[in-house]
Amino acid sequence: DWNMPDYVSEAVERIRAQVGDEEVILGLSGGVDSSVAAALIHKAIGDQLTCVFVDHGLLRLNEAEQVMATFADHFGIKVIHCNVGDSLLAKLKGVADPEAKRKIIGREFVEVFEVEAAKLTRARWLAQGTIYPDVIESAGAKTGKAVAIKSHHNVGGLPDTLKLKLLEPLRELFKDEVRKLGIALGLPPAMVYRHPFPGPGLGVRILGEVKKEYADLLRRADAIFIEELRKTTDETSGKNWYDLTSQAFAVFLPVKSVGVMGDGRTYDYVVALRAVQTSDFMTADWAELPYSLLKKVSGRIINEVRGINRVTYDVSSKPPATIEWE
Ligand code: XMP
Repeated sequence: DWNMPDYVSEAVERIRAQVGDEEVILGLSGGVDSSVAAALIHKAIGDQLTCVFVDHGLLRLNEAEQVMATFADHFGIKVIHCNVGDSLLAKLKGVADPEAKRKIIGREFVEVFEVEAAKLTRARWLAQGTIYPDVIESAGAKTGKAVAIKSHHNVGGLPDTLKLKLLEPLRELFKDEVRKLGIALGLPPAMVYRHPFPGPGLGVRILGEVKKEYADLLRRADAIFIEELRKTTDETSGKNWYDLTSQAFAVFLPVKSVGVMGDGRTYDYVVALRAVQTSDFMTADWAELPYSLLKKVSGRIINEVRGINRVTYDVSSKPPATIEWE
């Protein structure tokens, strides 16, 4: 049986004993695991922790602002916000292959992190939000048991050129325990119960070549979808549809179709909505969202996001489809 306040104070003591008066850096992604790790380590060692938040330019609407508001403003954690700006987009120019895109984004991420980390010359520790399932998964990968369909990139996948000792305070915890810990540490529930977001971000949700114009359209469509999922309650369970789905997002399709608007003809892009329910993300069912919700979302996207004139809903389960489109 797991007593949370005891667990927090034990974890804090363990981190203090391990780190002493040395300094720690942590790559903050805004995802649940790195966020909880940051909050826990900060509780243990305060200003000895510096977080590096790499904004690769393919995050969702207002995501960077929200991460900074929570960690820097609310918790008073030292966070270096590295804005890669358009340099990643320049490197992605003309690249349409999903694996090639993942590699470019992953490499950029690591490079930016390393440059920032190298400036923190007093740091001796690299903290990561590795959780127990990650430990098992990478053990499986080493023995060749796990077959990777897509090369995954995470904040966790950093090379060891920095010569830092590893601090992984969540290594023994399952996801639901990490969430409980996050709540106990005072993180906002909306952050703790967030859907997962892939490391390459919108880079794998814009099919083919990534362009700024596409990312801007996708961000707005995606934000409308998520807002409506959060606002719509299912009568039977009393829960909202964001919490009833495991992952939901919009995907940008770089194809144009014809539409009408007022007296005119439009020739604009398409977005697909994807919402799934799953317990382990290895298999997943497409979510049976209410038609009224889909209608509201498509109406809003088409009316509010000029440049998109068609919305589709993805009714493919995993397998054989994957959750992300790339
Ligand atoms: P797929 O598309 O393979 O996705 O069914 C399964 C889960 O993994 C997430 N995903 C990623 N997460 N880096 C990540 O950190 C990645 O490169 C990546 N690719 C997929 C996906 O969002 C889903 O939750």
